[in-house]
Amino acid sequence: VPAFAAPLPISVITDLLGIPDADSREFGEHGAVVGSVLDGIQSVRHAARFQAANARLHTLFESLFELRRREPADDLITRLVAAEAEDVVKPGELEHMVFLLLIAGFETTVNVIGNCVLALMNNPGQWEALRADPEHMAPKAVEEALRYDPPVQGTSRIALEDVELEGRMVRRGQWVFTMIGGAGHDPDVYERPDEFDIGRDASAEHLAFSGGVHYCVGQPLARMELNIAMQLLAERMPKLRVAGPVRRRKTSTIRGLRQLPVSAA
Ligand code: HEM
Repeated sequence: VPAFAAPLPISVITDLLGIPDADSREFGEHGAVVGSVLDGIQSVRHAARFQAANARLHTLFESLFELRRREPADDLITRLVAAEAEDVVKPGELEHMVFLLLIAGFETTVNVIGNCVLALMNNPGQWEALRADPEHMAPKAVEEALRYDPPVQGTSRIALEDVELEGRMVRRGQWVFTMIGGAGHDPDVYERPDEFDIGRDASAEHLAFSGGVHYCVGQPLARMELNIAMQLLAERMPKLRVAGPVRRRKTSTIRGLRQLPVSAA
């Protein structure tokens, strides 16, 4: 996980944003701490680490915004500071936007790579199917991993009006927790929901990227990264196998692996 799954999305997003190579490690480290809060604050120590990382990221971004106002480059931060100058992006929005873009991929894409590889290793026939035709089967393996073991297990909404759902009333103003992970295993939608099958007809779209106005803005990027990662793994490491104890992260909203030792020989 730390050798392959985590560095890939972090280096892609830091590159797109235009974070200079010299600073990308520091952005990555603080971004990971801020991203860990997506699963909730776990302790006072965690809160203190979050606060320190948040403050440091704020300073780093402020100086990067300044740099790109003076020296525009071909990157997302340059475009966003230009949009702020034209009042398209409002004062105060810029930093929140880049914070979210930086961290949103940290706790998500990395976990899909781990969860997908683990599911393939646990189902050797499926790994074989991917290996036999990596270019065609990688996107199917990715979609099946997003359904079977999604990195974001749930989200929430507040009802804007009274709604009746499956015979229950949700009153205006009430919180609703949506269980994305459970939805992917709904037997009314998927045949054999607990089987990992990359040949599955993917016409019933999973909810791993949520839905409605908050539908994941990063999904085309995430899908591109995941498809490339899985295709290249299958092409370059056809003999991939688990070679040590698999450890899951102790999180609940975010679901992924801390450790997945593999051998490629
Ligand atoms: C496989 C990888 C990813 C998964 C499973 C995922 C999942 C999600 C989910 C479930 C939401 C919606 C939360 C809600 O409805 O309350 C969301 C929103 C969002 N995601 Fe992703 N995400 C992924 C990758 C990324 C990447 C790479 C980026 C950035 C480049 C990104 C940026 C965002 C942003 C900015 C939002 C907020 C959209 C809004 O509220 O309008 N995501 N994502």
